[in-house]
Amino acid sequence: MNIKPSKLERYFDKYEFKTPYLLSSSDCESFTISEILQLEESSEAAFKQFRLGYTEAQGNPELRETIAATLYTDSKPEDVIVCAGAEEAIFIYMNILLKPGDHIIVQSPAYQSLYEIANTLGCKVNEWHMIDDEGWHIDLDTLVAAITPETKALVVNFPHNPTGFHPSQEMFKQIIDIARDHNLYLFCDEVYRCLEYDPGDRLPAASDIYNKAVSLGVMSKAYGLAGLRIGWLVIKDKQLKEAFCAFKDYTTICSSGPSEFLATIALKHQEVLLNRNLGIIKHNLEILNTFFTMYSAHFTWNPPIAGPIAFPRVAKGSKGMKDTESFCLDLIDKTGVLLLPGNTFNCKNANQYIRFGFGRKNMPEVLTHLEEYLENIG
Ligand SMILES: Cc1ncc(COP(=O)(O)O)c(C=O)c1O
Repeated sequence: MNIKPSKLERYFDKYEFKTPYLLSSSDCESFTISEILQLEESSEAAFKQFRLGYTEAQGNPELRETIAATLYTDSKPEDVIVCAGAEEAIFIYMNILLKPGDHIIVQSPAYQSLYEIANTLGCKVNEWHMIDDEGWHIDLDTLVAAITPETKALVVNFPHNPTGFHPSQEMFKQIIDIARDHNLYLFCDEVYRCLEYDPGDRLPAASDIYNKAVSLGVMSKAYGLAGLRIGWLVIKDKQLKEAFCAFKDYTTICSSGPSEFLATIALKHQEVLLNRNLGIIKHNLEILNTFFTMYSAHFTWNPPIAGPIAFPRVAKGSKGMKDTESFCLDLIDKTGVLLLPGNTFNCKNANQYIRFGFGRKNMPEVLTHLEEYLENIG
């Protein structure tokens, strides 16, 4: 398999662990093992006694039960397949669903795996471009126009990385209806779900309301537990489920037992984790709103609607930011602040954008280093 490198992951690989001030992370503030064990009495002793053998290939039954019961309204534990992060689930699903020559439509910009695996498999990938016009949004007419009789699947991501876009309930229903009317498979990347600023904005999981949809979830983002490498896909189609499990025998076979143990506790007490992380996000967003007003000569702020990330544009006429990659590299060099240049994503005028992440506790402090830099470039 000759797959192109993931621009975003290669960029993070180079800088994330050598740069002190992270201002572009997509995951929320993490928790320690001890903090997770404290959520449930007697779990520390049980964790120490946990036997490190193989686990069920589809995922620990208690974890699948907890996922199905707490995050979905119409999915059963047997519809949930636990994977190594969201990444493994994307990789396997694309491999079992798609054949060379298949036509798929992918919301764009997108996390690279969501289109690159299909490209590598020889599919015809049509990018459904989001629009940046006084805030990021999507246009359903463009989506419908891109569908051909050959279109097999639609790939979407809400809340969206990198723009922070989130459709209304009504618009999401329309997307589902479009998929249903054209008999499309729908891959719905929901890894930032539960990070809606208003809980009333939360969308139903796609897999709960459309039988050809699958929903992707993960512990990495909203729960701040990326190090567990636990994600899952909710699939109802029996044949696809079997094909998925059979493929997984060649990737990880089963998940990490200790990670499944901790993920189960975390999900049973998810309000604690979500409340803390949403608190951080909302506090940081207020600070960012002020920051972007102050520095409107440099950035056009596109306020996000949900999630821990946003994708502002460089303001026309900003001095010192001809392209965002040079700007981000100089920023790392001079201040140790890590931002993500837009050209790590597949979007129009990519060089005009920068991804900000604001799910971390130290964001206000990190922002002061960026402010100093901006003051110096004038
Ligand atoms: C939209 C989206 N999907 C999937 C992933 C992969 O998640 P994980 O690292 O937990 O496998 C990411 C990571 O940034 C993402 O942003």
